[in-house]
Amino acid sequence: PQYDCIILNGTVVTAADVGCYDIAIKDGKIMLLAPTGYLASAPATRVIDAEGAYVMPGGIDAHVHLAEPPLFGKGRTADDYATGTKSAIAGGTTTIISFAPQDKSQSSLLGALDETSIKAANQAYCDYSFHLLVSNPTSQALDEFSILRERGISSIKIYMTYEALQLRDNQILDVLLKARTEGITTMIHAENGDVLNWMTKQLEDRSLLAPKYHATSRPQILETEATNRAIALGELIDTPILIVHVSSPSAAEVIRRAQTKGLPVYAETCPQYMILTRDDLDKPGFEGAKCVCSPPPREGAEDHEGIWAGLQNGTFTILSSDHCPFVFDDSENGKKAAITAEFPQGHFKYIPNGCPGVETRLALTLSANRLTPQKFVELTSSNPAKIYGLYPQKGALIPGLSDADLTIWYPSSTLDPFPIQNSTLHHNVDYTPYEGKMVSQWPRYTLIRGEVVWDRDNGGVVGKKGYGQFVKRDRSSLSSSNSSPWNIENF
Ligand code: URP
Ligand code: ZN
Ligand code: ZN
Ligand code: ZN
Repeated sequence: PQYDCIILNGTVVTAADVGCYDIAIKDGKIMLLAPTGYLASAPATRVIDAEGAYVMPGGIDAHVHLAEPPLFGKGRTADDYATGTKSAIAGGTTTIISFAPQDKSQSSLLGALDETSIKAANQAYCDYSFHLLVSNPTSQALDEFSILRERGISSIKIYMTYEALQLRDNQILDVLLKARTEGITTMIHAENGDVLNWMTKQLEDRSLLAPKYHATSRPQILETEATNRAIALGELIDTPILIVHVSSPSAAEVIRRAQTKGLPVYAETCPQYMILTRDDLDKPGFEGAKCVCSPPPREGAEDHEGIWAGLQNGTFTILSSDHCPFVFDDSENGKKAAITAEFPQGHFKYIPNGCPGVETRLALTLSANRLTPQKFVELTSSNPAKIYGLYPQKGALIPGLSDADLTIWYPSSTLDPFPIQNSTLHHNVDYTPYEGKMVSQWPRYTLIRGEVVWDRDNGGVVGKKGYGQFVKRDRSSLSSSNSSPWNIENF
């Protein structure tokens, strides 16, 4: 046959347009977009009738933690590259970018990259890449940024909090200067770790240790301060930064102000900050631990509105899951690791930080009906592809250039709204923070490089472990680093 697969009668959505098209796929690539009906009798090995439903570039989740050792307090992450990426495809995500964490005891970055590459090899159901998590920016590590670029890694993440990870401002400047030279995008976890430790001490002195005090220990001001400082450091070096998992409208405001000044400041938020509140941490028993993540869910509806506004008005560049899975009922590596002989009721500071969400990200966001379909694609696919150097191989439907990575939804009003249930999800976690939350959409098919890997009504996960490939990335195409040398005499 002329084509490997054709998709008929799609309402095709890209970050730019919505239109009615048939799509032809050959050798894993998008070959042709044609007006609806045009390909109706084209010879193809496989034919999928989208029946008028949205057809979108596959979701890209640029913030996923898999197979990580304990870094955020106790606990190793529950999903490995197999279960985490299986969960991804079942939720319409075709590419993930996870983390290769450098241990503080390592002076090189390459060990972390090699170890993580081995963990992922022949395991993934979807395509993947890594951000290098830099916790010890030695001169050797900084010199290796150029090797990262050669190996197709164009982004790093640094932390302003967590004992095992926190960098001082001078170290952040070292990282940013080298990132500028090498065309690397620096992701920053912006929470003031020293203030957090001080707040924690205040709570401990008062024996306030329940899960809800996790939120008390990390008020918005501590995120806003760190965001401000990160932006200032980025402005000093004149290089792009991306503030990850922004939870608070006041931090978003600081980011917006910087963007208005023309600074290359980008930002990410996540569904938990549109949906969960600190009340979710205040449940009977230890249940609240299920929603402990950092930054924490904020106070309520007003904060959620602020985050939605930032998604709509462009303050947020990308929407990721920050899938950081820990089993609840596991006293060694799960949330219950915080229940010890010394703290039989649990202590919030020992609860591993993070929530699962790689599978629910797209359905929850689309079902909220707050974004135009184009904006939805921009935030969940095209922009992550651009800022992390995957575009237009990923995040687009450009004939000849783009991989045939597609998420096909249900035709409107053919799916009755249904509650999210953990028992139907594919991650290796014994809960979802969104249990019972209603959604009106779910991906019906997921295709990666032209192969159907998720067919919700016929077999579910039909993709194979090991089909997912490592994708080499280029520098960001949203904003290039300044190519002129950084000159201290300019100040
Ligand atoms: O609570 C969170 N977000 N855990 C994951 C670690 C991180 O900082 O992204
Ligand atoms: Zn139509
Ligand atoms: Zn983080
Ligand atoms: Zn994270």
